[in-house]
Amino acid sequence: MTDEAILREQFLAQLGASVRDGSFVRLTLGKPRGADATLRNLFARPVEVRGAPHLSLVWRHERQDITKNFPPEDALTTLAPLIGADFHSAHLFTTTRLAQLEYNKKGEPRLTYGPAGEEKPDPAHDRPKQRLLTGESQPWLQALGVTTSTGSVREGMADKHRQIHKFVEILSHLAADAALPSHRPLEIADMGCGKGYLTFATSDYFNLVAARAAHVRGIEARPELVELCNRLARETGRARLSFLPGTIESAAFATLDVLIALHACDTATDDAIAKGVQAGAALIVVAPCCQKELRAQLHPAPVLAPALAHGIFAERHAEFATDALRALLLEWAGYDTKVFEFISTEHTAKNIMIAATKRAGPARTEADARKVRELAAFYGVKTQALARQLYFDLGQ
Ligand SMILES: C[S@@+](CC[C@H](N)C(=O)[O-])C[C@H]1O[C@@H](n2cnc3c(N)ncnc32)[C@H](O)[C@@H]1O
Repeated sequence: MTDEAILREQFLAQLGASVRDGSFVRLTLGKPRGADATLRNLFARPVEVRGAPHLSLVWRHERQDITKNFPPEDALTTLAPLIGADFHSAHLFTTTRLAQLEYNKKGEPRLTYGPAGEEKPDPAHDRPKQRLLTGESQPWLQALGVTTSTGSVREGMADKHRQIHKFVEILSHLAADAALPSHRPLEIADMGCGKGYLTFATSDYFNLVAARAAHVRGIEARPELVELCNRLARETGRARLSFLPGTIESAAFATLDVLIALHACDTATDDAIAKGVQAGAALIVVAPCCQKELRAQLHPAPVLAPALAHGIFAERHAEFATDALRALLLEWAGYDTKVFEFISTEHTAKNIMIAATKRAGPARTEADARKVRELAAFYGVKTQALARQLYFDLGQ
């Protein structure tokens, strides 16, 4: 066995021993080197599942966390091949010390030790999912009818509760990747904010959880909702949170760093994206719905006609064509764009999210323009709301 393999084996032996003798506190794997480019970290900690000891493994991806619980020996079998291969950094925290296995650029490991400094966690019960919003968010969650006065989720509001927390989790990942300014408070707009669930959540995430001062503005066409939300913002002491009556189309911002528009119907999503692009927002997050604009224009290949005679396929098809064009237009406008499921379709059908982070590289290249035009030509799309507002010629 080489010296390098010996160090890795020593680390694995210490990991195994700590899990078996109960001194294991947690394990953090970093410096990902595996095939999955979205994977950032893997965290392991002890938990009890139905009274039996387990290890909870959390795969932290760019946009989401995937958690699986394993019996201890299975967890060790899962972790061992990843250390030194998929991850080039491993920190093992036990009640007695910290062991760090770090690989350099040549792939050579170094094993070092430090003091413990960690309390043993209490795995006595299945812990509730770690939420980013804290008890400080309870006043508005209660006032908006999501939770009761004791903090439990109100009947019928479980999906909304889940959606709020999932949104904050996604936002935390997106914000970490976006080139947000650090020298001044962030300027954030939530367009078509409705009752303000996600606007309050965004404000609390930045101002309270991430400790980044942020002015958050909700824009909403219905004045009664604006009034309700402004009153609630005042009553709960959210000085940096405000709601403005008006349409997305007429909203104007001197500075805008983050643009959010979830479930703004049909072309209201395009209006919101256009505002974000025009203001040079570093991060644009939309979850489109009711993609009607293109339905009458779509002329896909004749081979698809019998399938598209089914209403649901025609609807999905229009959603796809619309959101694909939006994503490509954002790429052309200088954004790196990701499209992913926001929450499972089990909870809502409106679950596609388009997240765009402004890149430092070139924008409006001919190569990106060609991708947009080719997709529009494929579907016979001659005009589209976002293209119009970005003065992009679809070339038909
Ligand atoms: C389906 S709700 C979504 C609310 C919130 N964004 C969410 O996801 O929980 C859509 C909201 O957008 C508002 N809205 C739709 N079109 C708008 C527009 N053009 N300008 C401003 N508000 C708009 C509606 O009044 C409604 O309250």
